[in-house]
Amino acid sequence: MGYQDLREWLIAVNELGELRQVEGAHWRLEMGTITELSGKRKKAPALLFDHIPDYPPGFRLLSGALLTAPRLAVTLGLPVTPSDRELVSALEGLPTQWETRAKDFPPVTTSHSPVKDNVLRDSQVDLLRFPAPLWHEDDGGRYIGTGSAVITQDPDTGQINLGTYRIMIHNQNTAGLYVSPGKHGRIHYEKYHAQGKPCPVAVSLGHDPLLLVAAGLEVPPGISEYQYAGAIKGAPLRVVPGEVTGLPIPADAELVIEGWCPPGQSLPEGPFGEWTGYYASGQRPAPVIQVEAIYYRNDPIILGCPPNRPPHDYTYMRTVLRSAMLKEALAKAGVPDVRGVWAHEAGGSRLILVVAIKQRYPGHARQAGFVASQCHVGAYLGRYVIVVDDDIDPSNTNDVLWALATRSDPEKDIDIIRRTWSSALDPMIKTGVSAFFNSRAIIDACRPFEWLAEFPKVSQSSPELAQKVAQKWRELLAD
Ligand SMILES: Cc1cc2nc3c(=O)[nH]c(=O)nc-3n(C[C@H](O)[C@H](O)[C@H](O)COP(=O)(O)O)c2cc1C
Repeated sequence: MGYQDLREWLIAVNELGELRQVEGAHWRLEMGTITELSGKRKKAPALLFDHIPDYPPGFRLLSGALLTAPRLAVTLGLPVTPSDRELVSALEGLPTQWETRAKDFPPVTTSHSPVKDNVLRDSQVDLLRFPAPLWHEDDGGRYIGTGSAVITQDPDTGQINLGTYRIMIHNQNTAGLYVSPGKHGRIHYEKYHAQGKPCPVAVSLGHDPLLLVAAGLEVPPGISEYQYAGAIKGAPLRVVPGEVTGLPIPADAELVIEGWCPPGQSLPEGPFGEWTGYYASGQRPAPVIQVEAIYYRNDPIILGCPPNRPPHDYTYMRTVLRSAMLKEALAKAGVPDVRGVWAHEAGGSRLILVVAIKQRYPGHARQAGFVASQCHVGAYLGRYVIVVDDDIDPSNTNDVLWALATRSDPEKDIDIIRRTWSSALDPMIKTGVSAFFNSRAIIDACRPFEWLAEFPKVSQSSPELAQKVAQKWRELLAD
């Protein structure tokens, strides 16, 4: 593995020519808007903001970390691949390997912990010492945590979980925590609260982007993200116990807060420009973290990863990795001959899933669609699953729409699953409801199995003819 921590990651990315330093951008909307506009460009660089007004030079923020194939490859310890296609094929089989090997990589406790260069306790705690951005014009506050890793422990099993959940600053020592129903961090604090106890919490706010990958993805249940990240890295992660709760915090993190999420305490949280492209959940009461300690390296770097109208700061990373994970989850659930999966960025990598199969038997397409919509990787806040034949590239929107338009009959080929897993973030759910359900449409856009052989032939030159003509007319047909 080529790097140890975020600082070495920055060196590696700089060597690729994919890092831009930005000086003087304001935390109030400017860093957010630059991140949004830059991120929409092809080959968007990672942005390292410094000399942020109101803050000492050296107190920095990184955004746009995982927007290209080379940077994602570096993060995953893979050979640097220039194209998405090569990265997708390099990932073939890896999620299953990571899952299997995770048990061999428990984190190791170390005494050398750069994150403890500076320790603020109790009355010294001040979240406003760090350049938390106001990312979007209608945000209800400054979000210090967007690329965060929130560390909690299951009080029943002792399992440590890392989840990326947004963190808003309420005041110097109080942070708001938004976790959707069913996410592990929420299950953990609900278990403590049911016993009338405060939930211990630590939040890493700047770290190796690999930790964001692990904390922000559907790591299979029962596996700690520390171990999953260790399996990806091929080396155990280094942790150090927090002084307040004893939770293991990443020793090489840049900035960590630690404290308690007490039962019965909440404050208005949001609105926030969310991953669906809306301020959908508005402002609601959400749990808080009473922060009792802050640890940070000299010249700390916050890892920012703000969503907005997709594609945004984390759709690329999630699309590539969730597609790979979903493909393997389908195989594990016994769905054969899945040839490709794509979790489209337009749907924030959740709302539109496309699965390409080689149809083998009647019902195969529906099986693939229903399992994709409900397995762990695909279940939360989906909307449409489209199943296509294997001549369709699931990542090619035009191909998929063509299959939808020509191989499905709405009357027969759309199945609806009702009362499925959603959240307050769903823009189709009005604010104020008490439980968040939506539905799934499973669209079978494969040629009908019973007349596969007679289905009209595709009007397209045969590969032999196309190659022969392209060869002869190569100058005319060159890009
Ligand atoms: C950049 C980023 C931000 C996210 N923000 C939130 C959030 O604010 N709340 C939330 O519940 N999930 C959020 N998620 C999704 C969860 O991190 C994701 O579903 C993860 O798998 C949850 O882990 P868990 O299953 O251990 O709870 C975010 C993901 C990413 C990548």
